[in-house]
Amino acid sequence: MEGKLQLRVQRYGWDAASDWYENGWRVPLAAAQAALLEAAALQAGERVIEAACGSGLVTRAAAAAVGPTGVVLATDLSRNMTDLTARECSRLGLAWVNTARMSADDLVVDEGRFDAAICALGLMYVPDPARAVESMRRAVRPGGRVVATVWGERRHCGWAEIFPIVDARVASDVCPLFFATGAPASLRQMFEAAGLKEVREHRQREVLAFDNERGLLDAMLLGGPVALAVKRFTPEVLAEVEREFLGSVALHRGTDGRYQIPGEFVTVAGSR
Ligand SMILES: C[S@@+](CC[C@H](N)C(=O)[O-])C[C@H]1O[C@@H](n2cnc3c(N)ncnc32)[C@H](O)[C@@H]1O
Repeated sequence: MEGKLQLRVQRYGWDAASDWYENGWRVPLAAAQAALLEAAALQAGERVIEAACGSGLVTRAAAAAVGPTGVVLATDLSRNMTDLTARECSRLGLAWVNTARMSADDLVVDEGRFDAAICALGLMYVPDPARAVESMRRAVRPGGRVVATVWGERRHCGWAEIFPIVDARVASDVCPLFFATGAPASLRQMFEAAGLKEVREHRQREVLAFDNERGLLDAMLLGGPVALAVKRFTPEVLAEVEREFLGSVALHRGTDGRYQIPGEFVTVAGSR
């Protein structure tokens, strides 16, 4: 898919997913987001830029870490997502969080303005993730940190059949390169190519818990990257997609109806 088209699909896709995202994914993504925050080691008073902030799950933790003497600029391609982040941070009194709609591969900020640039589970959606790493590098001062977490290898992600199942019913693939950044060494090499130093990679296998079938389907179909395609399906096609997807994860369903689906994440960190 051509880059500009991919950005449009992502922007409006995540606008569509925004109301479902946080409830669907807060628990399953918590361990990956914790790894990103640990690697970023944010300190009180630091200035942080976040790419692909979504509804602000990581933003709020980053804001707590830097405190009121710090700054967090939370950015995302989707206006609905930046609005959600702004609303929730304002409700919580996190006045040192600002939001802006920006693509991760084109962070329009003064060079070297931040101590750290972070991105949780966003680079799989960017047309040119290496450009996004470069854009994050540019945003931090010499010695500043860049940290990104992405999904890992497809074979370790038990929910991955969602893409071919949806793609079979749309004109062009929803996320053709979704697992590219999680391939062995892929993201690490992008960090090194961007000139980042002391680059390190951490892989983690997790079990993603969903309480029941409805929670799983809402997260996967309404609150994730296939939301835009799913919105356009007829009820019949949607029912077919749900059936096929549940079939693909059936072996991860417990007798109590809960799902425990394997997932892998990769966190890469480096400094400028
Ligand atoms: C899975 S969510 C992750 C949100 C958040 N970082 C978290 O960990 O909960 C992916 C986010 O990436 C954003 N996104 C997709 N393409 C993007 C791009 N090119 N630039 C910035 N954000 C993008 C989406 O709008 C969505 O909010």
